[in-house]
Amino acid sequence: MTPVLDATWTALLYLVAAVCFILALKGLSSPKHARRGNLVGAFGALVALVTVFLSSRLGNIPWILAAIAVGAAIAAPVARRVQMTQMPQLVALFNGVGGGAAALVALLELPHADDAWVRLAIVFTLLVGAVSFAGSAVTFAKLQELMTTRPIAFPGLPTLMGAVLLAAVVAAGFVVVLPLSAGSTVVAVVLLALGLVAGVLLVLPVGGADVPIVISLLNAFTGLAVAASGLVLGNVLLVVAGTLVGASGTILTRLMAAAMGRSVSHIMFGAFRGGSTAGSTAVSERPVRSSTAEDVAILLGYAQKVIIVPGYGLAVAQGQHTAAELAQALEARGTDVEFAIHPVAGRMPGHMNVLLAEANVPYESLKEMAEVNGDFRQADVALVVGANDVVNPAAKSTLGSPIYGMPILEVADAKQVVFLKRSMRPGFAGIENELLYEPQTTLLFGDAKDSLTKVLTAVKAL
Ligand code: TAP
Repeated sequence: MTPVLDATWTALLYLVAAVCFILALKGLSSPKHARRGNLVGAFGALVALVTVFLSSRLGNIPWILAAIAVGAAIAAPVARRVQMTQMPQLVALFNGVGGGAAALVALLELPHADDAWVRLAIVFTLLVGAVSFAGSAVTFAKLQELMTTRPIAFPGLPTLMGAVLLAAVVAAGFVVVLPLSAGSTVVAVVLLALGLVAGVLLVLPVGGADVPIVISLLNAFTGLAVAASGLVLGNVLLVVAGTLVGASGTILTRLMAAAMGRSVSHIMFGAFRGGSTAGSTAVSERPVRSSTAEDVAILLGYAQKVIIVPGYGLAVAQGQHTAAELAQALEARGTDVEFAIHPVAGRMPGHMNVLLAEANVPYESLKEMAEVNGDFRQADVALVVGANDVVNPAAKSTLGSPIYGMPILEVADAKQVVFLKRSMRPGFAGIENELLYEPQTTLLFGDAKDSLTKVLTAVKAL
């Protein structure tokens, strides 16, 4: 069948899709425009998909449509049902599938690749796509707690990894340099298997708080694999889209690593060198000062300045609307209220911004860490709602702590610190927070939403 679109129309529509992807990234860089950015990106993807159908001599159309239907039937309900706190796992899963798909496309194209440069793009796609697929599967299992979240390292791990990578380079060289033969496909399958093993070995030693950073890195890998598969298929849009994903994934990885005070190489190879990235989950029995919702309400109601520090627990409890209402009630009493946002609070980049935007907290009230840290000294109360690691002074004081070097929100500078949490259990990094035992600290135990509701009622009754 002759394609409906000629080469000029195809190129033009690919350009439209590419521009949509770039505008989508621009929109996603601010909470104000993120929703629109997402829609523009989805529209670009739709344009790209329709263009492929109308511009190619595609065989097997019923099979392709069936595969799209199966994929959509699985992904749409999963994406609808997923909790916000499980988003990193979902991203890992979708990202891994992208890398795996690019690797399979490359494998299927190999028998038609007479040019050595195309075969170079094929081996790159195979290896990087397979690493991304297997690595993402392990990160999914870690975050979903299907396996331990702690780093797994064993004595021969660096040697094994080195041997796997060396074998992969030899296999890739074989496919690129030697003329195509039946043996090429067999070696390509071996290369794919080596990529899968390398992906598992790469992620096993990463633990605890570092796993989502690795998801972002694997996202960048998938982007590169997709860009290389674009070279294999001669599809410019895949090259553009893959490069955008590769670049944005790399930037996000570096930003997240910087926000946690680590280098990417330390995250990836820390456990290879014998360091651990997860702490112990022991809980000490020392006494703490706990309080009632009514007492906390008095503290807040008569404060001039309150800084609310949201964390993962607020997301779990879905207490964002109540937190927003509490802020309004305090503001109505003349209190100055700010929300302090740590870049890695919660479990994904921008988690707290998304949560509070959902509750219609004005953007002006959300203060980034660098902007708000100086304000804690003037705050009468720092209200820490379901946050722990991002305010833990061990990040500054305890050399060797899993979070050592991570910049924190300086809540200890406030006159009073109130923690809303359910127990004395530690946060994600699994380490104790000395601030819980300080004299200026009060704890209100309970689910964050319940506690906020009680405090709100008591503030309104003041
Ligand atoms: P965490 O340190 O994980 O602390 C969460 C706190 O919330 C815990 O103290 C927990 O104590 C409490 N909590 C849990 N459920 C609760 C509920 N229903 N009601 C009230 N409290 C509840 O959170 P954080 O301070 O936001 O720090 C985030 C951590 O995740 C950091 O270590 C960060 O590095 C890591 N991380 C972040 C990201 C990104 S990109 N955001 C990615 C990966 C990892 P109880 O159990 O006693 O209630």
